[in-house]
Parts: sequence; structure tokens; C-alpha cells
Amino acid sequence: MDTRLLTATDADLAAAGGHLRAGRLVAFPTETVYGLGAHALDDDAVGRIFEAKGRPVDNPLIVHLADAEGLERLAIPTPLALALAGRFWPGPLTVVLDARPGVPRRTTGGLDTVAVRVPDHPVAIALLREARVPVAAPSANRSGRPSPTTAAHVLADLGGRIDAVVDGGRCVIGVESTVVDARGDVPVVLREGAVTREELGVVGEHDGTAPAGSPGTRHVHYRPSCRVEVVTSDRISDRARALADAGERVGVLASGAVPTGVEALGRFAGPGELAAMLYGALRDAEDAGLDVVVVEEVPEVGVGRAVMDRLRRAAD
Ligand code: TXA
Ligand code: MG
Repeated sequence: MDTRLLTATDADLAAAGGHLRAGRLVAFPTETVYGLGAHALDDDAVGRIFEAKGRPVDNPLIVHLADAEGLERLAIPTPLALALAGRFWPGPLTVVLDARPGVPRRTTGGLDTVAVRVPDHPVAIALLREARVPVAAPSANRSGRPSPTTAAHVLADLGGRIDAVVDGGRCVIGVESTVVDARGDVPVVLREGAVTREELGVVGEHDGTAPAGSPGTRHVHYRPSCRVEVVTSDRISDRARALADAGERVGVLASGAVPTGVEALGRFAGPGELAAMLYGALRDAEDAGLDVVVVEEVPEVGVGRAVMDRLRRAAD
């Protein structure tokens, strides 16, 4: 299969919307990462997502809508879900609710719940409007790999396996949406993400975290072909130098200057900047043939929680 590279023109977006309606796979940008879209109510189309990604069938998909209006047709909204949608949509918050019977169990990974979000990206919204159907979209990487934040990343993983990718430039946020169970009275965080616990009002020891997390958090994830080490800022230089002295090709992602003899993959001023560059830097490290990437730990507050969650999984 030839993967068409589309742009964010009206004509291309209309064509891409038609592809989605017809059951084909179209990758597209969101504010978090690129998604691999398919008609969420078309069982065969959804099946193609799992095939193209090599994704375990028990890992459910997030359904994307152009606006909150379509929510009632997919899920049974709760007062909490409506409040969260009002506050955070469009945006990087995904709500899990009881699913309507019309949502294929392939989309929900066999569960009776469905995850829904409205992305905050003009290209995504325009495409979803053109598609006129709900669009299931996991991150557009091969299963287990770092999520893509450019169209080139999508093509590197899925070129030849999907019908099209809409190039909308680089994703601004760089880590995925926060997934919350919104069936009860308080949001329960199933996956840390771009909307922070501080913003959700769930911080502290017994803060409404489901011990099991979302099904996806059980699987291998975010892992590049090189090793990843996470170290504190005071140890970055020594560790990078020791690895380089041992003959390894080393890359560094840190807030400060890097020692000579190691590759500078990026310099960030805080967790938000690290989020925006992390997945791309891991892919750059692979492309440069590095053996190991040393990343500076960030404090686990705000979006730092999501970043450290992804880093631990990448390093695992
Ligand atoms: O930012 C994002 O969320 C991106 C963009 C493309 O929207 N999408 C994304 O999808 O990260 P994916 O498939 O890589 O991650 C979806 C996560 C998984 O951890 C999955 O287990 C969880 O959402 N999830 C989906 N449906 C669920 C459900 N019904 N119950 C619990 N968790 C669910
Ligand atoms: Mg993913």
C-alpha cells in the first residue's frame, strides 16, 4: 500500500475525511501526538488499526470528536464528564464512560466503557468535521514505540501500512492526553498526561488513582531501540562521560550544557519543554545510531508526572 502524504488544505482534508468515512486509515496531528484514525463505529476499519500498529487487541482506543455534541451517542454522560468536557474540551483530556451498545467492542478493547476526547488542533477538528463520523485514534506509532510528533515519525513507523497521513507540522504538547474514569463523582486518573492533576484537582496520597491504570499502561510502551537512563541533574555529566569512556555512543537530554564527546539531543528549561521534545529526541537518537540516551529527571509535579511516567517506561 502506498501511504499518501496529505496537507492541511481544504481539498486534502475533504479527501482525508472521505477516506475515514470509507473505512480507511488516516494519521493526523493533534495537540498531543499524531493519531492513527479510523471510523470508530466500523468494526473492520478499527480492526485495521490494530493490524497496522501490531497493537494488542485488549488495548482500547480513544474516540475523537469534533465537539462535545456527539458524546451522548457514544457514551452515557455523567455530570462529572459534562463538567470536565466543559472545562477541558477541546483539549488533552480523555474521559472514560459507559459505552452505548452501538460502539464496537473492538474499539473498546472488549470493555463496556469507551474513551472519548475532543482534540485542540485546527487540522484535527477540520478533519473530524469532514469525516462526519467518530474517529478512533491511538497514537500513530508501531505498538511499543515512542509516539510520533511529526508526519515524518508516522511515516517511519507506518509508511506502507496506512492509507494516508495529514501533515500538520509538529505537535505542540508532545505527551498524550490524560485519561480519566469519569463514571463516578471524582475523576480517577487512569493515565497521566497533558492535563495535570493540579488542574483536575486530584493531588495527594489518596488521590483517585486506579491501582491498575488503563489497559494500555500494562503493555510495553514508548521504547526506542537505544537504551534510556534517567538520572538526577547533578549526575548527568558524570554518567554521560562514564558511558562515553566505556565506548558507548551517548546522547544527552538535559537542562544544562553537556560534556564533550556526547551528543546533545536537546536542552530544556522545564518539564513542559522536555515533553515537547522527548519523543522526537528518542527517535533522533535511534537515527544517529546511539547506544544510550541519558535524560535528566524532572520534578513529578504538573506535566512532570506524565513525562516521568513515559521516561520510566522508555527506560524499563
Ligand atoms: O493524546 C492522546 O491521547 C493520543 C492522541 C492521538 O489523541 N492518543 C493516544 O492513544 O495516546 P493511545 O491508544 O496511544 O492511548 C490510549 C490510552 C491507552 O492507555 C488505553 O488503554 C486507554 O487510553 N483507554 C482507552 N479506552 C479506555 C477505556 N475504555 N478504559 C480505560 N482506558 C482506556
Ligand atoms: Mg500510544
